[in-house]
Amino acid sequence: MSHIASRLSAVKPSASMAVSQAAKDLAATGIDVIDLGLGEPDFPAPAHITQSAFEAARKERMLYTASLGTPDLRKAIAGKLKRENGLDYTIDEIAVANGAKQIIFNALMATMEEGDEAILPAPYFVSYPEMVKLFGGVPVTPACPAENGFRLTPDVLEASITDRTRWLFLNMPGNPSGAVYTQAQLEALGAVLARHPRIMVLSDEIYEHIIFDGRTFVSFGAACPQLRERTLIVNGMSKAYAMTGWRVGYAAGPRDLIKAMATIQSQSCTSVSAPAQIAATAALDGPQEDVAKFCAAFERRRDLVVDGIAKINALSLDPPEGAFYAYIGCAALIGATTPSGQTLADDVAVAKYLLEEGYVAAVPGSAYGLSPFFRISTATSEEVLAEAVKRIGAAVGKLEI
Ligand SMILES: Cc1ncc(COP(=O)(O)O)c(C=O)c1O
Repeated sequence: MSHIASRLSAVKPSASMAVSQAAKDLAATGIDVIDLGLGEPDFPAPAHITQSAFEAARKERMLYTASLGTPDLRKAIAGKLKRENGLDYTIDEIAVANGAKQIIFNALMATMEEGDEAILPAPYFVSYPEMVKLFGGVPVTPACPAENGFRLTPDVLEASITDRTRWLFLNMPGNPSGAVYTQAQLEALGAVLARHPRIMVLSDEIYEHIIFDGRTFVSFGAACPQLRERTLIVNGMSKAYAMTGWRVGYAAGPRDLIKAMATIQSQSCTSVSAPAQIAATAALDGPQEDVAKFCAAFERRRDLVVDGIAKINALSLDPPEGAFYAYIGCAALIGATTPSGQTLADDVAVAKYLLEEGYVAAVPGSAYGLSPFFRISTATSEEVLAEAVKRIGAAVGKLEI
């Protein structure tokens, strides 16, 4: 048997990937399962993006690049941050990695000491607490309930801070809730942070372009410029450009932190794949029409799911403000009896029941630190979503509540 290091003892594999695997296992038995577990845009990446990488790879040798990313890509990122977010960063304040996930991993590895705390407003992206634990950190996960739009408030932030707090994570629009913060809400959080100089802010803005009802996206960096020297803006190509498999994410932040992240990168994967960086440069510097088209499609799907869930009395869902998930409240189902006589004890049991009775794979809220909910991804066609909502309704209808 292999020796597995103790630092892994508390770290769980990704819950959304586990749900997808359970759906695949069931589908392999011949059942028509709808997998709404993973958050991956279902559109192809815009053709000019893939074409740029393809043509470059045919013409030139693809070599290692600078660990922080090619100067061309970092220039394109600096241009994007200026154009879309009103932020000024030079290319030595920008790092590129294999997805936003590796950016977050590098940032935590570069900064966390044993016992340091990271505030992760719940519900949170499943990978945050596991990465924090991997580096000896302690996740602090204040509940941000639906009544507050799943947003962190200044009071809750203040109450979560201790002498050991190293990071505050913000994610907007949020996965799984879709929550978006206004400039005033971010400023109010910034005012609390101004009193606690030890705390750094990681603002995960990867769903920035998937925002609904005409809302304007405000970057944390733009709302709180006085915190620039302790803010890391995280973003990436996966969601806006439907480029999950290309694995390109990036961050902008203080030069010393970016340098430390480059050291980690240089000793781990060296650099992101060169063709992927060429594609990312083309995406950021090229036409942006497809990004808006993707967003419009996600908004129509959001509407379809909100309307469908509203007809299921025992479930609750306020319209998500962005991203491509619906975080559905299922408090009324807890304690319900299934047709086979089992009691649904928690949202894990609810998700299991939806998979086994409705053949719809959803991720339980416990994976995101706020129960009782389940998350469905809306990154699939309207036709499939309509069928999924119908199945969820039928399965809920068979419960004795
Ligand atoms: C909030 C959030 N951050 C980061 C990521 C990971 O992005 P990437 O594909 O760039 O690693 C995801 C993916 O689901 C996410 O939901």
